[in-house]
Amino acid sequence: MMATAVAHPNIALVKYWGKRDTALNLPAVPSLSLTLDGFSTTTTVTWDAPRDTVVFNGVRADEETTRKVAAVLDLVAPNRPPVGVVSDNDFPSAAGLASSSSGFSALVVAAAAAAGRSLSIEQLSVLARRGSGSACRSLWGGFVEWTLGERADGTDSHGVPVAPVDHWDVVMVVAIVSGKKKAVGSTSGMEASRATSPYYDAWVRTAPGRVDVGRSAVLARDLQALGEVMEASTFEMHALMHTTRPPIIYWQPATVACLHAVRRLRDEGIGAYATMDAGPNVKVLCLRSDAAAVARALREHVEDVRIAKPGGGVSVRIEP
Ligand code: DP6
Repeated sequence: MMATAVAHPNIALVKYWGKRDTALNLPAVPSLSLTLDGFSTTTTVTWDAPRDTVVFNGVRADEETTRKVAAVLDLVAPNRPPVGVVSDNDFPSAAGLASSSSGFSALVVAAAAAAGRSLSIEQLSVLARRGSGSACRSLWGGFVEWTLGERADGTDSHGVPVAPVDHWDVVMVVAIVSGKKKAVGSTSGMEASRATSPYYDAWVRTAPGRVDVGRSAVLARDLQALGEVMEASTFEMHALMHTTRPPIIYWQPATVACLHAVRRLRDEGIGAYATMDAGPNVKVLCLRSDAAAVARALREHVEDVRIAKPGGGVSVRIEP
């Protein structure tokens, strides 16, 4: 059987950085995200193919990606037949735009459908998490929390919807500083931070409180409260990266210029708040009514600026 799933990346409002179990991909901190419209991954899975193949954006995937995909497919169905995977992103991969989040969520949903397995959305979220942690939040649209969970097997560490896609008229204005592949991947970067940053313990201790503040702000539609906790989480995460040995520095000159531009917008009375992930791109949270003004300010520093509204969860269709 063949099935195609479409998923959107999510951007963390309160960040995930650090694992308590690398084998099961269990987080050391809870996190909160917004799924974005406007960017998407489309993945077609053919169950019972001549052999395992992964084609990513038109080219054969590298060995590491192929191995990761195969491992997740093994979890969808142990004793599976060979499987063909074709996946396309309509945005730069591996540049801090959370392509792994849409990638693995689309993969598990398409694979389960193609295998004829009916799994709950929470079970699918757990499987997506095994591929890439942030992917467990992309099963749902809108605002999603990834809870720590308590069980040793990780079956209760998955996404939990907080508010639906039409809850609030906010947008993320994305300034694409660079579409190049990042030098340090999230998986190895967060492991290095855990092992070497003197601030790691404080990060883990304070993260749950940040998620509580973020969740309440989302539910109350309080942009200032959400923006402030998002910036705090962002800069704390980047402080962890910068205090990792050797330091992990994703920022480029244009990144810093965009951060200052966001400050200036706020000085002018526009509610705009910046976040960044494992890459140089800057994403700015604001009300939809301010999106054009924010995009204009960012375009003074980068050419490619896109406005993304909240997006929906994963959709899937069985191919004839
Ligand atoms: C900075 O989910 O890519 O985007 O679980 O190792 O695959 P792995 O990491 P990944 O890390 C995302 C880190 C982040 C913050 C976030 O999305 O919460």
